[in-house]
This record gives sequence, structure tokens and C-alpha cells, in this order.
Amino acid sequence: MARFDSPLLTRTSQHWCSLVLKNFDTFLIDHADCERKAAVTALSLVRSYPEKSKLIEPMIALAREELAHYHDVHKILLKRGVVAFKSKPDDYTKTLRSHARDPRDQRLLDLLLLSGIIEARAHDRLETLAPHIKDKKLNSFYTHLANIEAGHFKIFFQAARHYNSDKVVDQRIKELVAIEDRVFRSLELLPRIH
Ligand SMILES: [Fe+2]
Ligand SMILES: [Fe+2]
Repeated sequence: MARFDSPLLTRTSQHWCSLVLKNFDTFLIDHADCERKAAVTALSLVRSYPEKSKLIEPMIALAREELAHYHDVHKILLKRGVVAFKSKPDDYTKTLRSHARDPRDQRLLDLLLLSGIIEARAHDRLETLAPHIKDKKLNSFYTHLANIEAGHFKIFFQAARHYNSDKVVDQRIKELVAIEDRVFRSLELLPRIH
């Protein structure tokens, strides 16, 4: 499986994997919702910052990709007979996004970097989980997905560098990654991506 230069300080534990494997439908419901939210996040950045034209191509491409993932996970859920699903509130993402500062341009920087960090965590989860999935089809789906998700955090970090100096971006990544680590460690371990 492809390795990537993760910005995260802590990796997902094997204990989390065991929890997911025992509650796979619950995991799938949350995973589908994470893919949907990833598509919505990319589109809302384009909607909120229409003047930042360098965001348009990468964010729309990303939204299309995440939407396709959402569709894929939905198909798996339906195949397994899971129909009435509703995901639970996502405290991880909500807490992280509360650290986005004002004013507007600073907020864009923070939202891009936080989105990148959230993507890196999703990748970390999938990459840890994939080799432990026994079902052949599901294993190859998650292995493939983990490889694709590996590049997503870079799309956001790169977008941030279009509008900020490397020094400013690198410093803020450091601060936000430390915040992510605190939030990640503080939350109850659940069979969900976030
Ligand atoms: Fe995705
Ligand atoms: Fe992604």
C-alpha cells in the first residue's frame, strides 16, 4: 500500500480496527457520511470564496471524487441490506473547525488546512483498516480507496500555499496538527472514521 508523508502526530491504533471489524455496518454508515461531507466541504469553499479562482478546479475535482466514493459506499450499504441509516453528530470535525479564525482570508487559510488534516486522518484510518478486512471485495475496495485518499490532504495544503507564504502555512500547519492530536486523543474510540 502506498505510504505518504502524513502531517499527523498519532496513528490510528489496532484497537480501533478491531472495533470497526466488529461493527462494520456502523462504520460504513459513518464512512458514507464522511464522503458526503468531504464533497460538501470542497463545494462550500468554492461557494464562500468565489474570488479565489485557484480553488475552483481542485475543489470541484475533489468534490466529484468524494461524491463518487459516497455513491460507492452507499451501494455497499444497500447490498448488505442496511437501509434506514442516519449518522451521528461528528464532534471531531466540529471541534476542529471551531479553531478556524477570522477575518475572512485567515479563515480560508485555516479551513483549507483543517480540511487537509481531516483528510489525512481519514486516510490514516482507511490505510490502517484495509489490510484487516477479510472479505476479498471489501478489502480491495478499501485498499484502493486508501491509496486515492493518500493524496487529498496535499490538495488542500497546496491550495493554501497559493494565497499564503510557505512560512505562514508551515507555522499554521504545526499549530493545527497539535490541536488535531489533542482532539483525536480526547474523543471516545468509536467504530467511525471521525
Ligand atoms: Fe473520499
Ligand atoms: Fe478524501
